[in-house]
Amino acid sequence: MTAHTRTVSQDSGPDLSCCEDTLEQHRSFNPLIEAILLRVVRLPDEKDPWLADLTKRLSQLAELLGAHFADEELSCLFTDIPLQCPHHAEKLERLKGEHPMLIERLKTVLDGGEALDMAVVAGRVQRTIAQVRRHEAEETEIILESFWDEGGSSE
Ligand SMILES: [Fe+2]
Ligand SMILES: [Fe+2]
Repeated sequence: MTAHTRTVSQDSGPDLSCCEDTLEQHRSFNPLIEAILLRVVRLPDEKDPWLADLTKRLSQLAELLGAHFADEELSCLFTDIPLQCPHHAEKLERLKGEHPMLIERLKTVLDGGEALDMAVVAGRVQRTIAQVRRHEAEETEIILESFWDEGGSSE
């Protein structure tokens, strides 16, 4: 877990430097996410190795995201930004609430996959990965907006 410092300047808005760790983590998931997507947009002939490979990669992603969510919940994204930029607070509350749901989806998306058509399994995986990408993109957008948000108050 990364140690985060919470430094808030009174006259120039929040110091969001610790959010850089969160941004870096978001970027770091891209290769694995792209590898998973590649496997569900172009389906091979044989199901067994395909399913085993997807199982391994989705499990890796669930593990990485589990650690990431725990880390970012202590980062300025979920500590300083809701206080300094209250117009983001409601959205951040929703995003935080999505963490357990996303992990659960990643862990269960392949359940029963052995008995299903590959296209059905692939569709499920695509929808789950789309949720993960949308979640992380929303957080990244909030962080980047907050960097330019003077003190976070529009009033
Ligand atoms: Fe998150
Ligand atoms: Fe995140």
